[in-house]
Amino acid sequence: GESVTVSEFAGMIGIKATELIKKLMMMGVMATVNQHIDAETAQLLGAEYDIEVETKTVKEDDLLPQVEDDPEKMQHRPPIVTVMGHVDHGKTSLLDAIRETKVADAEAGGITQHIGAYEVDHEKGKVVFLDTPGHEAFSGLRARGANVTDIVILIVAADDGVMPQTKEAIDHAKAAGVRMVVAINKVDKPNANVEKVKTQLAEYNIIPEEWGGEYQFEEISAKNHVGIDDLLDRVLLESEMLELKADPDRPAEGIVIESQLDKQKGPVGTVLVKKGTLRVGDAFVVGDNQGKVRAMFNYAGKPIKKAGPSIPVEVMGFSEVPESGDSFIVTKDEKTAKQVASMRHDKKKEKELAERSKVSLNDLFDRI
Ligand code: GTP
Ligand code: MG
Repeated sequence: GESVTVSEFAGMIGIKATELIKKLMMMGVMATVNQHIDAETAQLLGAEYDIEVETKTVKEDDLLPQVEDDPEKMQHRPPIVTVMGHVDHGKTSLLDAIRETKVADAEAGGITQHIGAYEVDHEKGKVVFLDTPGHEAFSGLRARGANVTDIVILIVAADDGVMPQTKEAIDHAKAAGVRMVVAINKVDKPNANVEKVKTQLAEYNIIPEEWGGEYQFEEISAKNHVGIDDLLDRVLLESEMLELKADPDRPAEGIVIESQLDKQKGPVGTVLVKKGTLRVGDAFVVGDNQGKVRAMFNYAGKPIKKAGPSIPVEVMGFSEVPESGDSFIVTKDEKTAKQVASMRHDKKKEKELAERSKVSLNDLFDRI
């Protein structure tokens, strides 16, 4: 891969860059001062001046911060919660109810949500809600190795019971090893049948604590804002058992959960910080691109300077629109970020080429 520019190499061997450019031209290589040269070219160029150039293959891991989790530095982090359930069982209504009871009264006149996530300050602690991952997005992220949620609230309408997407949600949560809290919704409806829902869920081994099982259940009415506080209590209780911890005092790592090209802001992405603290000015690698945090905004669109573990932030400063599911890693400087991004880019290109030649060989054999 590329590792050194003409001017950097000139500095290393003590020869003027303009001189090197002439030499390169004679070798048939047209280059500018800021151009990267590969190891082989550097060796050939060095040989011209009787300088032996030692090259070293740098791996991605050598460039990225290697910080072992230190138990002494681990601190509590808020749980990240996703609501899942069958169509029309009340996912959106529940998120609205939580936001209206918990978020809006904190800020006069309510807030407009800017990203697919928000933070709730409950008296027992902060909870982060993600409302983007529908089942598909959730399994898409999981397929890419991204565990974005700590707790799933499984919502089941009491007048409808367990339905196909309820089962799907159970499967997703179980496959991801994520704990579930059950919200039996629409208990205000005359045809609500809470006992029936419990019996149906028991068939999937989701048994409430009062029946000797290990699941927290809450009966709610998202529409009438009933049981919302108690449900949050249960979520926090569940999260205490998980002992969620992260080290806030290290370079940040996170995951992109959504992205877009904003007319004013350019490429933006919502990053869920998983470790460390993300700060304005940090350089980062994301997928095979890089960037530098120019500005950050919280869920309410308010500019912030830093974000710790579990906090979702909208980041400005991507070189290109990132993909959801991309990992996000802060590097020690922009140069390192660019180096890692270019290594990843090269790797991707190589893989694509290899796949393409495989295809063309097959085509060839087909024709013979
Ligand atoms: P999709 O996003 O389409 O999958 O639906 P959803 O799960 O987000 O359900 P949504 O919140 O849109 O609610 C579906 C319907 O149920 C709406 O008409 C709500 O007003 C109604 N609803 C939600 N919660 C309650 C409740 O607690 N009681 C009653 N009576 N109706 C409710
Ligand atoms: Mg909805």
